[in-house]
Amino acid sequence: MQIKDSVFAITGGAQGLGRAMAMRFARQGGHVALIDLNPERLQATVAECEALGVQARAYVCNISEEAQVEQTFAQIKSDFGQLNGLINNAGLMRDGMLIKVKDGQLLDKMSYEQFTSVINVNLVGSFLCGREAAAIMATQGKGGVIINISSVSRAGNMGQSNYSASKAAVATMVVTWARELARHGIRVAGIAPGVIATDMTAQMKPEAIERMKQAIPAGRLGDQDELAHSAQYIIENDYFTGRIIEMDGGLRV
Ligand SMILES: NC(=O)c1ccc[n+]([C@@H]2O[C@H](COP(=O)([O-])OP(=O)(O)OC[C@H]3O[C@@H](n4cnc5c(N)ncnc54)[C@H](O)[C@@H]3O)[C@@H](O)[C@H]2O)c1
Repeated sequence: MQIKDSVFAITGGAQGLGRAMAMRFARQGGHVALIDLNPERLQATVAECEALGVQARAYVCNISEEAQVEQTFAQIKSDFGQLNGLINNAGLMRDGMLIKVKDGQLLDKMSYEQFTSVINVNLVGSFLCGREAAAIMATQGKGGVIINISSVSRAGNMGQSNYSASKAAVATMVVTWARELARHGIRVAGIAPGVIATDMTAQMKPEAIERMKQAIPAGRLGDQDELAHSAQYIIENDYFTGRIIEMDGGLRV
C-alpha cells in the first residue's frame, strides 16, 4: 500500500509515538485521522500535519468506550470518504507489583481497578478500534492495514501484570486478525518497541537512562521516527502480515 493519498486513523495520535507516525505519514502525503483524549494536543498535532499539505482531523474519543469508538469511526468514514489504515497505538501504564509483603505481612496488592484500567485502554480499546476499522475496510473493498503497538514487555515484566498482559494480547490479536481478515485484503501486523525516547524518558534521572542504555545492545534509546519508520515499512510491504517487528535495539532476550 502506498502512503500517499491513503487515510490513516491513529489512536493516541496527539503526542509521542502516535504523533511521530502521523508526522511521518503526512510527510509522505498520507491523510491522518487522529484519535485521542487530549483536545489541545490533538489540535496542535493536526495543525502540524496540515502544514505539510495533507488532510488531518482531530477526534476526541475514549477508545475504551464502545459507543464513542463506533461514532468516531463512522465520522472518520464520512469526513474522509475512506479508511485505509489503523494504528492501534493509544496506551497507558499503571505499574505495580501483584502483591507487596514485608515480614510476612501483606502490605498492598494490585487493585482490580489498576488492572482493568490498563486492560480497558490497551486491549479493549484496540479491539474496538480494530473491529470498527476492519468493518469499514472490508466493506469498502479496497483492503487495508492494521498495526497494533505491542511492547517488549509482552514477554512478561516485573511490576507490569496489567501492561504485559495487555501487550501480549494485542500481539496475539495480530495473528488472529491477519488470518481472519486476509480474505478482505486487510493485512495486520504489530510493532513491539523497547524503550523509545519520549517526553516521559526525558524526565527520567540521567543515571536511570544510563542504566537503561547499558541493557540495550544498540547502546541507546530508540528514536520516535525510527518507530514510525517501522510502521511505514509495514504499510508499504504488501507481503508483511501476521507478524510483529521487534523495535528494541536488541533488548529482548
Ligand atoms: N515510548 C516507549 O518507549 C514505548 C515502549 C513500548 C511500547 N510503547 C507503546 O506505544 C504506545 C504509545 O506510547 P507513547 O510513549 O507515545 O505514549 P504517550 O503516553 O506519550 O501517548 C499515549 C497517548 O494515548 C492517549 N490515550 C490514553 N488513553 C486513551 C484513551 N482511553 N482513549 C484515547 N486516547 C488515549 C494519551 O492521551 C496520549 O496522547 C503505547 O501503546 C505504549 O504502550 C511505548
